[in-house]
Amino acid sequence: MDILSSLGLGRSYLEKIFSDAKSFKADISAGKGILDGKVIALAFFEPSTRTYTSFDVAAKRLGASVIGFRSQEDTSMAKGETLSDTIRMLDGYADCIAIRHRYDGAAKLAAEVAKNPVINCGDGRNEHPTQSIVDLYTIVESFGRIDGLTYCLMGDLRYSRTTNSLLYALGQFKPKAVYLSSPDQLAARSEVIDKLGFKCKKIDYDIDSVIEEVDVLYVTRIQKERFADETEYKKAKGSYYINEDLVARMKPEGILMHPLPRIDEIDRRVDRSKKAMYFEEANNGVPVRMAILKRMFDGGR
Ligand code: NCD
Repeated sequence: MDILSSLGLGRSYLEKIFSDAKSFKADISAGKGILDGKVIALAFFEPSTRTYTSFDVAAKRLGASVIGFRSQEDTSMAKGETLSDTIRMLDGYADCIAIRHRYDGAAKLAAEVAKNPVINCGDGRNEHPTQSIVDLYTIVESFGRIDGLTYCLMGDLRYSRTTNSLLYALGQFKPKAVYLSSPDQLAARSEVIDKLGFKCKKIDYDIDSVIEEVDVLYVTRIQKERFADETEYKKAKGSYYINEDLVARMKPEGILMHPLPRIDEIDRRVDRSKKAMYFEEANNGVPVRMAILKRMFDGGR
């Protein structure tokens, strides 16, 4: 019942979520009363805009109440309380805990302590499974399918948890090709690649050679806060950039995605392109998380 990793999400579970999310998106009031009387805890120890607010709205649209915090400084952890004590306590107050934390494995630890289901909303540089479901849903909305498409994941693939989870989730489908484009020092970690049941092709961060065949270009920001060394970050900064010319060279039906926040990797003028899907992707956070919460309490995986 926990959602800790995209590796554990089956295709039929994902397809059910896509179908529920579609219904909720068409009629947001369709979720009314489904989680009446439930309490969802949002335990966010790391900054968040979209994930926190979309879970908050999703829970409320389903009739649940929401408790929680969005900064470690607001909790007794600032006084030295441990993560497991904080989780144990929230587990007594709420029916489900959605957690974000800067440490890899924090959600797994929380799930070991809690009796109620735990949702990983981002643990360090490890995973962000619900974001990958939002991403896949956005792809389904655009193309009607996930199979048979050509993907290019671009940017900081070393520290981005959204790209790890997206790659794991793509394992349930049959992508035509998956390109990984990043500066060398930001290449995807082998521990992630080794878990994939399909082959990816590592390319240079100059994506000229593939841009015309890509259906989904998925860009991430450089995860500045995860660099141990500031000079390493400075070397990587500005090494890739999406502008209107590049987007114009994509297939007419191609889409540009980004989990947001974007910093300086996408020119603002790209926003007016119909291929720019990142704000729609963020909007999809609410119906998709409604579907995830609904499913969590009606017992299915
Ligand atoms: C992402 C995250 O927190 O990993 N944000 C999000 O949830 N949409 C991406 C990021 O911070 O770069």
